[in-house]
Amino acid sequence: PLLAHRPRPSLAVARAASPDAATGARSPTSGGQMLVFVPPHPLIKHWVSVLRNEQTPCAVFRSAMAELGRLLVYEACRDWLPTITGEIQTPVAVSSVEFIDPREAVMVVPILRAGLALAENVSSVLPATKTYHLGLRRDEETLQPSIYLNNLPDKIPEGTRVLVIDPMLATGGTIVAAIDLLVERGVTSKQIKVISAVAAPPALTKLSNKFPGLHVYSGMIDSEVDEKGYIVPGLGDAGDRSFAT
Ligand code: URA
Repeated sequence: PLLAHRPRPSLAVARAASPDAATGARSPTSGGQMLVFVPPHPLIKHWVSVLRNEQTPCAVFRSAMAELGRLLVYEACRDWLPTITGEIQTPVAVSSVEFIDPREAVMVVPILRAGLALAENVSSVLPATKTYHLGLRRDEETLQPSIYLNNLPDKIPEGTRVLVIDPMLATGGTIVAAIDLLVERGVTSKQIKVISAVAAPPALTKLSNKFPGLHVYSGMIDSEVDEKGYIVPGLGDAGDRSFAT
């Protein structure tokens, strides 16, 4: 009951905190509720399936993760990036054109380790990005995250658009801790888009309760998380599978 499929626009929208009322509006400027987008694109389905397969070798897994990241970021940028207009001379005539505004660099925040693979192709989609890494480790017993690397600047300019890249939204501990660090630096949840390969209800509910206005783009939503904190059916440990460790 988590997803509401809407014929137009072509995105599946979920309202995580209220699965029975999954009627979220599409507009990125819409009110306080968190929205989850699962773009119904055949390439996204394909790369998620490659990732799920336990037979997929490490190098293929990593490039599938990178492709999925590219497609999800492309979707996330729809109606989000400001453009500037100008005039240029084509070989044939003068034309008015639009470019991504270079003064509005998007801040990309990959969460180590697995976020590195999902973020690999982001710079090929976005002309202007700054990347700030966050390292969060999940305790295998308590499933609580601890921060071992924080490259975020102390001050983040007002209105900065932020892409947080974390492939597996399972219990939600890690992604909540990462967004808390951004909020401490003045970023509001409406400025943030989370990019994930697979998301599960516990994480989506936590995010939705804590960060109204947040947008999550995910390749797939799975139904549960097991007692070890793994998404089921999921794809296993995304970091281990990306780096063969
Ligand atoms: N992190 C992973 O890598 N996989 C899961 O299933 C959950 C968290």
